[in-house]
Amino acid sequence: MPPPTTHSIPSSLPLTLIVATTPIRVASASAAATTTTPPSDQNATRLGIGLKGTLPWPRIKADMSFFARVTSRPPKQGTTNAIIMGRKTYDSVPKHLRPLGKRISVVITRDQTGSVREGVLQELEARKVKMAATAKAKAEAAVEAGQGQATAPAQSPAEEPATDAIVTPSLDAALEQLDTVYGAEGRLGKVFVIGGAEIYGASLRAGSEALMKRPVRIVMTHVVRKPVSESGEEGVEQPFECDTFFPVEKFTAENGWRSASEEEVTEWVGEDVTGEWKREGDVEVQMVGYERLD
Ligand SMILES: NC(=O)c1ccc[n+]([C@@H]2O[C@H](COP(=O)([O-])OP(=O)(O)OC[C@H]3O[C@@H](n4cnc5c(N)ncnc54)[C@H](OP(=O)(O)O)[C@@H]3O)[C@@H](O)[C@H]2O)c1
Repeated sequence: MPPPTTHSIPSSLPLTLIVATTPIRVASASAAATTTTPPSDQNATRLGIGLKGTLPWPRIKADMSFFARVTSRPPKQGTTNAIIMGRKTYDSVPKHLRPLGKRISVVITRDQTGSVREGVLQELEARKVKMAATAKAKAEAAVEAGQGQATAPAQSPAEEPATDAIVTPSLDAALEQLDTVYGAEGRLGKVFVIGGAEIYGASLRAGSEALMKRPVRIVMTHVVRKPVSESGEEGVEQPFECDTFFPVEKFTAENGWRSASEEEVTEWVGEDVTGEWKREGDVEVQMVGYERLD
């Protein structure tokens, strides 16, 4: 008998950090330390991502739906994308939405009592029951409306992305478990790191070999608040308040990064990304990409 085929996660599978950031100007420590620094260099920009355990801004539909589409769209039928996050980011997702559907949520925690795992797995079961009830109600409504055949799902349940959750003690353990549980059966799609600051930091630190060898990409939504006056004139930028920041500020070659082209980002995320600024109320957003240099 031929040996069983194994599909472990290839080290060429990129780790994609997906994040929304807003520029926060701060007095730079090095600038403050020297009186010879020219005035123009005395400010640095940090990229704010959070405030008091949640996002710094009210709901931005364009960004939230981009995040949902990109992280849940698998690269091929029969696979499911993974979203790796810190326990605090998991907690920041509204209770009725977690774990997020059609994705494998991987929650990283130092908790050794088992209570985080228990809580996540209980929420997973409740979510699956709710999703099944919604799907059944939809199918019944379609049959009643005489559209049974027209709305029959294009994919069988086995081919649809799964909704699952894993709780692990580190990023390395997260990749290993994804490999054992999903990779081995060829069911793993793309792997995203969705935050927060601690987990972005862990994925960018030169840690294990498995992490260092993997291509690292960032899909970033820039967010700025620029209210428009009643006469239609764009006002000055009003920064958001932030207490949590992305661990990288500059994406220059000097810092080991390069900007990706619109075509590359489009290919990474599976939909058109133009890099244009789009307005939603007082806020403007722009999607861009970066790749870590070898
Ligand atoms: N703008 C965005 O795109 C975006 C995206 C995501 C999150 N956020 C924001 O970011 C903030 C949360 O970020 P955060 O940095 O405070 O928290 P986080 O990274 O989401 O979670 C931190 C937690 O992860 C666990 N953890 C971290 N490092 C670990 C390690 N090396 N080993 C094992 N477990 C580890 C610990 O969980 P335990 O305490 O359970 O041990 C730790 O308390 C929130 O405000 C959130 O809204 C923003």
